[in-house]
Amino acid sequence: MDASELAITGGNPVRTSPWPSWPIATDQTMANLEAVMLSGRWAISGAYTGTKGYEKSFCQAFANYQGSSYAIATTNGSAAIKIALQEIGVGPGTEVIVPGLTWVACASTVVDLGAVPIIVDIDPETLSISVQAAEAAISPKTVAILVVHAYCSAADIDGFVDLSNRTGIALIEDCSQVHGAEWRGQKLGSFGQLGVFSLQQTKLLTCGEGGIVTCRSQEAYSRLQQYRANGRIYTTHPVAGQLELVEKGEVYSANHCLSEIHSAIALAQLEKLDEQNAVRDANASYLANALEKIPGVNTINPPVGLTRRAYYDYVIQLNPDIVGPFSIHKVVEAMAAELGTFIETLDAPMNSNILYNPLLSKMANTEELRRQLNPKRFDLPFAHKAYNTSFAFLHHLLLGTTKDMDDIISAVSKILGCIEKLRG
Ligand SMILES: Cc1ncc(COP(=O)(O)O)c(C=O)c1O
Repeated sequence: MDASELAITGGNPVRTSPWPSWPIATDQTMANLEAVMLSGRWAISGAYTGTKGYEKSFCQAFANYQGSSYAIATTNGSAAIKIALQEIGVGPGTEVIVPGLTWVACASTVVDLGAVPIIVDIDPETLSISVQAAEAAISPKTVAILVVHAYCSAADIDGFVDLSNRTGIALIEDCSQVHGAEWRGQKLGSFGQLGVFSLQQTKLLTCGEGGIVTCRSQEAYSRLQQYRANGRIYTTHPVAGQLELVEKGEVYSANHCLSEIHSAIALAQLEKLDEQNAVRDANASYLANALEKIPGVNTINPPVGLTRRAYYDYVIQLNPDIVGPFSIHKVVEAMAAELGTFIETLDAPMNSNILYNPLLSKMANTEELRRQLNPKRFDLPFAHKAYNTSFAFLHHLLLGTTKDMDDIISAVSKILGCIEKLRG
């Protein structure tokens, strides 16, 4: 058989052996799980047992890790964004600026609070929200900018901090894809008023489903606790056998509490994050070095401020004239067939993403709101260009060896060598 025959058309794939798996049930994860199951407390709304709960321990460990004063865990990243928006005062009559190339929850949580997401374009170099586009979208109704650090890079946080200082508009940093990343030696997520993180299964730090918010002030901490627990906060003097959450009722809120079981997992996983990120970083550098030598292939160069990089999705871009008139989905399918693993496109741009249709929301209940919420009114040329020319794989492939990276390089070379066949 012709060695260059693509796997997608019946040729031999570059690789048939398994990839490193994700998530990883470490010994500590299993030990924590057993301990929490036997602890008699599976939820922070359950009675205090006399021993510090896992949710509290995880929040403290994560706040320390981030160099933030406080952290508040939530059921998922969307709930983390939602309570962060509530804390900033987002609601009917306000606007929040969000990037046009990211997961849909970044906009839909804004709609759920009765506010209008103003969707802006990305910086093509970082795939993250552009400072200039955000500044141009500011109106008297703008109360926050959701600065999402995307895929395997980061937004220009210096530029956003400057914008926030000049305008008084709050920054919420969404670090769901960059756990552990640092900007000039400081953790991303600690520059804005609030940092939010998803802990969903594919993330660099995970407990299956979960989220967390970080903040600096005691007042914000008190309110954020209430936003996530129906107006309740931790008592400072817990008594065994009694509830540890006490009623405060200073905000209108719901239940977004992370369970003790999920928190026990997250606490164990946090121990491994830096070690795993270091392996990913070394493999990603090896990969970039080789991929950049293949004509027509580009990788994402980190902005100078990003002194420690985190890789959620490793993004590979093809020159637009190579992709030409045919769909990037074909490249994605061909790569998946060569490597025997999941390969994906970037998120579909928010003005044409079938998962983001705010006009189906009960919030779109006047003609004027339907006009404002309609995603089609936003122009996102760089988001579309990036979407049409990029494919990506998830970070656990980077947990292997340089031999594994060689397989990725071979698959990219093979596909580019057969691009005409693929086109046909
Ligand atoms: C950038 C970003 N923000 C928010 C979320 C939402 O997190 P969750 O799925 O935990 O609700 C995600 C999840 O994919 C994400 O990638």
